[in-house]
Amino acid sequence: LNLQAPLAVAWVGEVDGLLRLIDQTLLPQRLEYVDCSSPEMVWEAIRQLRVRGAPAIGIAAAYGVCLAGETLARVAPHARPAQLQTVIDYLASSRPTAVNLFWALDRMRRRASAVPATASLQQFREQLLDEARRIQAEDSQSCRAIGRSGAPLLADGCGVLTHCNAGGLATAEYGTALSIIFTAQEQGKRLHVYVDETRPLLQGARLTAWELQQRNVPSTLICDSAAAQVMQEGRVSAVIVGADRIAANGDTANKIGTYALALLAQAHSIPFYVAAPLSTFDLTLETGASIPIEQRAAEEITCGFGRQTAPRGVEAYNPAFDVTPARYISAIVTERGIIRPVTAQEIRRTSSALQA
Ligand code: MRU
Repeated sequence: LNLQAPLAVAWVGEVDGLLRLIDQTLLPQRLEYVDCSSPEMVWEAIRQLRVRGAPAIGIAAAYGVCLAGETLARVAPHARPAQLQTVIDYLASSRPTAVNLFWALDRMRRRASAVPATASLQQFREQLLDEARRIQAEDSQSCRAIGRSGAPLLADGCGVLTHCNAGGLATAEYGTALSIIFTAQEQGKRLHVYVDETRPLLQGARLTAWELQQRNVPSTLICDSAAAQVMQEGRVSAVIVGADRIAANGDTANKIGTYALALLAQAHSIPFYVAAPLSTFDLTLETGASIPIEQRAAEEITCGFGRQTAPRGVEAYNPAFDVTPARYISAIVTERGIIRPVTAQEIRRTSSALQA
């Protein structure tokens, strides 16, 4: 346990417990927690990005289902799965892009439907909590495995550029993209990380820079728009990012600005890596064209963090994610190894090995 890296998502207590989240909107100025005691509070925390990052959203939502006790107490045992489904559907409406949310909620639904109607409410809720804890524990193992798989991609002394936050805050612990960096550093490699600030909500500046500092990884914060210049100066030998949803052909949705980075990496002959667990793959979508892209409020651009920086009434367009075509992705690092080349066939091969 790394006491310098508090958990983004933690369940406190047993069946009657609560969900404790780091309120990521307050970082890096304040490390404070928010305790959620109802599905409504979890929905709000996801929507407001108090908890964010694809795997962490899924874990939080799974625990959100565990907070449905009051609702469940109102119905007969045979009606519990249907009653729970209304809570699941509600939590699924919190954010649209990260597939881990729907993947985790589906696991909770399947677990609930397998509980016999003869079970007591207490037993029913124990099953739910057990499933949510498994989702969290598995993610933690996946993050470690992604780090081990990906660390060989980074040479001693290399510069790495990352975007948004795919670290411990975005997962059960340790991260996906950052896990590769942390693991390589633990292996004795000296790395230097260039951190895109990640407009408009600054997940890079506020969260990634903070995590790297906590783990003593040398890093330099840059404006998103400085990436091309930094690459041209020869400072970057790899780009590593996380993912919110990966289609069957490898097209990858991630934080807005990721696609631009992939194009820049290509232009500078720099490898572009995506790090993600299998829970981020959506094999029901043939290509990235059908990935739903979250649209967020114009105020995030015009009045970020409460300061008006554009004329009032100006029109703004604020997609929170973009889709990088598979052809720009050098490799995808998963908990079961590296997918390369990034093709539908290679993805099928790795994912079926995973299900076996
Ligand atoms: O809007 P956010 O902060 O939830 O966006 C997060 C990202 O884009 C991450 O890169 C992605 O979820 C991977 S997290 C391991």
